[in-house]
Amino acid sequence: MEKTLILIKPDGVQRSLSGEILTRLEKSGLKISALKLLHVNEKLAKEHYAEHEGKPFFGDLVSYICSAPIIAISLSGPNAVEKSRSLIGKTNPLESEPGTIRGDFGLEISRNLIHGSASIDDANRELKIFFSENEIIDYDKSTDSWVMEL
Ligand code: RTP
Ligand code: MG
Repeated sequence: MEKTLILIKPDGVQRSLSGEILTRLEKSGLKISALKLLHVNEKLAKEHYAEHEGKPFFGDLVSYICSAPIIAISLSGPNAVEKSRSLIGKTNPLESEPGTIRGDFGLEISRNLIHGSASIDDANRELKIFFSENEIIDYDKSTDSWVMEL
């Protein structure tokens, strides 16, 4: 099953929005396949955001993600990457539709609450940074056939 990496960023945890954010993602039918709270260090942050190295916002982005604990989540389900990006909204909360996580709870691009992998390849790369293979669990739920046509 397709998987994606979600990070509830430091502002999401500090603002006590972790439960609300997770509820929205989980209610879509996507399944939690791994979850942990951790404090990201600079090395991990730079590895995760390698594609942005050299951009003007890179330094601030690394400090932001390292500033306080985050929650890392693996979500599984059909089109998990695209579906979660659509629930999250656009990168800039100002351009995110109401009803999306960033549209409802964010004001600025540099405090946009949540990360979601942008592609299946990115998801596979990023999941390996945050989780070992045995921390990601595939399991059935009795409601699976009500969420997905199996
Ligand atoms: P994410 O990776 O966090 O899910 O966000 P995204 O795909 O929507 O955006 P991306 O282009 O990958 O940028 C990564 C994060 O960098 C910060 N950013 N700041 N000041 C700026 O112009 C700027 N641009 C990007 C945001 O925190 C964004 O989520
Ligand atoms: Mg991105």
